[in-house]
Amino acid sequence: MRHKTPIHVLALPGSLRRASHTTALLRAAKALAPAGVDVTLYQGLADLPPYDQDCDVDVAPAEVQDLRGAIARADAVLLSTPEYNASIPGQLKNALDWASRPYPANALRDKPVAVIGASTGTFGAARAQGELRMVLSAIGARVIDCGLAIGRATDALDADGRPADARQRDRLARIVHVLAEAARSGPSERAA
Ligand SMILES: Cc1cc2nc3c(=O)[nH]c(=O)nc-3n(C[C@H](O)[C@H](O)[C@H](O)COP(=O)(O)O)c2cc1C
Repeated sequence: MRHKTPIHVLALPGSLRRASHTTALLRAAKALAPAGVDVTLYQGLADLPPYDQDCDVDVAPAEVQDLRGAIARADAVLLSTPEYNASIPGQLKNALDWASRPYPANALRDKPVAVIGASTGTFGAARAQGELRMVLSAIGARVIDCGLAIGRATDALDADGRPADARQRDRLARIVHVLAEAARSGPSERAA
């Protein structure tokens, strides 16, 4: 059975920076989304407390409930990460640690997710993206096999934060499309 439309994609940023390149990429993804696909930016990253298993009880902190609820309501999740010291920014890993519980029945379980990223360095946060995919797989998400690594982001993004290169813009649009199709195709074999 085909999934309902519209498809709701939660755009989850990895940066807290006001002029973030990676958050700009998520806004670009929203602008490039095809008809029938809504992209909503998650804005609560800075409000999440540090993960503490003692606080991860029946009634989790309100900010955590908001995060888990936003993921649960979404049909798919698009994550955009910077690279900090060859890895995932701590605040993004913290959000995913909260999202991973309760395990295995967490909000990300079997959820289609795609990872993109950017950095001011040459490789466009490729290492952080690789680690992020590994973390998401461990959590049980359905990681889509496509990505976008934008290096030298200061020059590679235009004034509106969109990839200046048409091929990179097309790739970003394609990723949103593939993510939505994965959501439409329904649950994975594991969940079936
Ligand atoms: C603490 C820190 C560590 C960083 N480490 C790396 C790194 O390992 N590789 C890289 O390509 N860029 C690194 N950068 C540069 C970031 O990619 C760059 O600041 C990027 O624009 C951050 O993403 P944002 O624009 O979305 O905030 C680092 C930046 C900071 C602040």
